[in-house]
Amino acid sequence: MKKLTIAIDGHASTGKSSIAKKIAIKYGYIYINSGSMYRAVTLFAIENKLLGELNDNIDLFIEKLHAAFINFRFNENNLISEIFLNGRNVEKEISSLEISNYVSKVAAIPEIRKEMVKLQRNIDRKKGVVMDGRDIGSVVFPDADIKLFLTASDTVRANRRFEEMINNGLSVSYDDILNNIRIRDSLDSSRTDSPLIIENDAVVIDNSNMSINEQIKQIILLIDKKIVN
Ligand code: C5P
Repeated sequence: MKKLTIAIDGHASTGKSSIAKKIAIKYGYIYINSGSMYRAVTLFAIENKLLGELNDNIDLFIEKLHAAFINFRFNENNLISEIFLNGRNVEKEISSLEISNYVSKVAAIPEIRKEMVKLQRNIDRKKGVVMDGRDIGSVVFPDADIKLFLTASDTVRANRRFEEMINNGLSVSYDDILNNIRIRDSLDSSRTDSPLIIENDAVVIDNSNMSINEQIKQIILLIDKKIVN
């Protein structure tokens, strides 16, 4: 059976990773969350107190980030490729609001994007890949077999994220989350290098009023059509 490259881009907190994971598990594909790479780099910057340099001395910031080594390891238990920063599993830490508040600034730096895209393109696509992010269909894999663009109203997204974080025992405010989503969307869409755009050949899914299962059904139809053709 033909193995596809599936690119899932879209606005912040649109459920891209939940959907990508389910699709990857269903088809036995590799799943890569490219946002987790930018988040891990941001975690490194915070832990090593480099945020001052991010504002004052961008060249030094980039230089110091060379010490951040990022890789993925497949976890047999949950069937997910988990992200490691210098040998440490940072899957949980990178979802914090603190990281979300800085990540788009770090991700706008062209030198950092260049390194991340190199790592993303190193993935062996022969087994099938689902990758989610902001520039997967436009920059990383412009030849992707399927390009999806997920969006939803910002208040629906903030509500979902708020509930998820509260259920995970985190103390957060709804307003802070809504604000973060709006700022990230704006920074990600307006940056010069690889901005978030809707590719002409992307299928746009507005999931404001859709369940995950409804979205999965729609995506499975697209995939199955490609696999047989
Ligand atoms: O996907 P997630 O929301 O975790 O991504 C965090 C941030 O990383 C985004 O808001 C964006 O700034 C950046 N990102 C990016 N390009 C990608 C994936 C994520 O610039 N391919």
